[in-house]
Amino acid sequence: MTAKEQIDQLTDRLNYLNYQYYQEAQSEVSDQEFDLLLKQLEKLEEENPELVRDDSPTHRVGGTITKNFETVKHKHPMLSLSNTYSEDELRDWDERVRKGLNGADFEYICEIKFDGISLSMSFEEGLLTRGVTRGDGTQGDDITTNVKTIRSLPLRVQEGQLPFGSTFEVRGEGFMPNAVFEQINEELIAEGKTPLANPRNSAAGTFKMQDSAVVAARQLDCYIYELLEEKHLLRTHAESLEALKKAGFNVSDSWQKVGDIEEAIAYINKWEAKRFELPCATDGIVLKVNDYRQREELGFTAKSPRWAIAYKYKAESKSTRLKGVSFQVGRTGAITPVAELEPVILSMTTVRRATLHNSDEMERLDLRKGDFVFVEKAGEIIPKVTRVDLEKSLDHENSEPFEFIGECPACRTALVRNEGEAAWFCPNEAGCPPQIKGRIEHFIQRKALDIDSLGEGKIEILMENGLIGDAADLYSLRFEQLLGLEKVHVDELTGKERKVSFKEKTVENILKGIEQSKSQEFAKVLFGMGIRFVGQTTAEKLADYFGNIDALEKASLEELVAVPDVGEKVAQSIVEYFSNADNQVFLSKLKVAGLQFEQGERNQVQEGESLSGLILLYTGTFENYSRDELEAKIIANGGKFVKSISKKLDYLIVGEGAGPSKLAKAEKLGVKMISEADFEKMIDQG
Ligand code: IVH
Repeated sequence: MTAKEQIDQLTDRLNYLNYQYYQEAQSEVSDQEFDLLLKQLEKLEEENPELVRDDSPTHRVGGTITKNFETVKHKHPMLSLSNTYSEDELRDWDERVRKGLNGADFEYICEIKFDGISLSMSFEEGLLTRGVTRGDGTQGDDITTNVKTIRSLPLRVQEGQLPFGSTFEVRGEGFMPNAVFEQINEELIAEGKTPLANPRNSAAGTFKMQDSAVVAARQLDCYIYELLEEKHLLRTHAESLEALKKAGFNVSDSWQKVGDIEEAIAYINKWEAKRFELPCATDGIVLKVNDYRQREELGFTAKSPRWAIAYKYKAESKSTRLKGVSFQVGRTGAITPVAELEPVILSMTTVRRATLHNSDEMERLDLRKGDFVFVEKAGEIIPKVTRVDLEKSLDHENSEPFEFIGECPACRTALVRNEGEAAWFCPNEAGCPPQIKGRIEHFIQRKALDIDSLGEGKIEILMENGLIGDAADLYSLRFEQLLGLEKVHVDELTGKERKVSFKEKTVENILKGIEQSKSQEFAKVLFGMGIRFVGQTTAEKLADYFGNIDALEKASLEELVAVPDVGEKVAQSIVEYFSNADNQVFLSKLKVAGLQFEQGERNQVQEGESLSGLILLYTGTFENYSRDELEAKIIANGGKFVKSISKKLDYLIVGEGAGPSKLAKAEKLGVKMISEADFEKMIDQG
């Protein structure tokens, strides 16, 4: 078989398997086999770049960097929808539609209004050629490389599958699935970074990212809701949705055909609560006239079609009694005030507590004893208190306000607040039980030392029995100390009792888990140590850069800020960590226990030594590498990588669109500048 035939065959096979997986929820092959085929294709494409097909599934993995997205004009303008929050206005609109159609019979299609960003996708002869954002409605950004990472979007459709020909445009809503949003936030929080605000903004931001490999990792998705085809072969919107679904497009099954506005209102009511079961954020319902000829008759206003309207759900907000305010102490000692609420159901889940963020927010809300408060789900994910329900809080004026605390609720140490920060902290790092417990929980989590035979309850038992004072103590636990320990837990919410007891099997598992954690790689140990602001990614970069704990410990502030991803704040925190005597004791206990404090070979693909002893930096974008790939390449060949230009720098690799100020500075300092090709030569020729 020729390379072309092989590439064609693999491309078709992988696209077919992808369709089966994402549209039919079936897999003919294991994930491993799929990856193997994809790798084969990647290799063939690398060797024969001229044979890469536009619908190659390798585009889904991303890897292209787009510096500036090209602005392109929409073939048909992307209008918005007129919208309303009231049923009466909806009935008025229905009346206008009826008049506009001179009393003829008609139907509506009801759809969910997905809350992401609108996208237009063009297909020519069955091939996805372009993905564009809405922009200002007349022109948008060409984000084809990013749109191609959407797994549920066919990159090619077979002509036979389409009753409307193979050149057409589809419109849909690109979104970040709730599950992905939650997972990303979990990771960001664990790394001490600011979580994303809501799935909509996250989707909008991600679709505009320059590195499509990062976009691919974020697993964006898209629901298709309109078809535009020149030949007008289909008569109704319902027919289009069905045909699109059949051709492999991701059309949500939530749409429904209705005969009149009352049925449409029933649809609205049905989905008001049920919409939270969907994988994507939603903000209302769209009503559309079904028949295309009738749509034409109704026409458009300057901004929106007369044949469609959006009914928006109000952000669900409920009033409930504020039972009290409690204060949580986090792993870092930060104090978060929490509203304790009479349970209330919001967006399908029971809410009993809601964050009050910090003391400033508490003051703004002016919460008093006996108050009722409105609770909302911010971005429909995290509950928050928005204001006091003054109508129900009859005694608000005369009641005593809830005050922020002056000392730690757990250890009674006076709280402190750093200048410029919103949060109050308990400074008793060494002796405050919830901080200690938080640090141990952080240490054992999957992304750190991964001791899954331990959990919150078991750690509490160990702490209460005086067996552990920090995570390092886990490594001196003995079988006979643990056997027979027990504790009755009372569930905070249900009041149900649950007994945790350490039987033989439990103890064996705990000790086995602790033992196995000794082989976790250095980067994970470093993350588990819980240095403030050192998240998983930063820990990996530090481990790669310094190679072992001693080098990291000795690093000066200047050396630390030279590491990719490390800024002043992080560097400062690392220096402070190592200069603290308690941390030194903790660290030496971990060393005695035999944990990995050296970056092993496993993680570093060592390609060669051609850059050994050299310090490099890049600017601009490159043809063959994303930023991460270039950094990895430098390290894999023995080089060091820094972030800023200094005299110490050996080479500046200059790419497309390089920053002029960087170039000027490099020139002034006499740093050698090389191209991407020079860099590759250096590696190849040593
Ligand atoms: S139809 C002529 N259907 O809502 C307008 N739009 O405010 C055609 N949207 O920009 C749009 N779900 O991003 C339509 N099922 C749906 C939708 C939907 C979400 C968004 C879309 C549009 C905005 C209009």
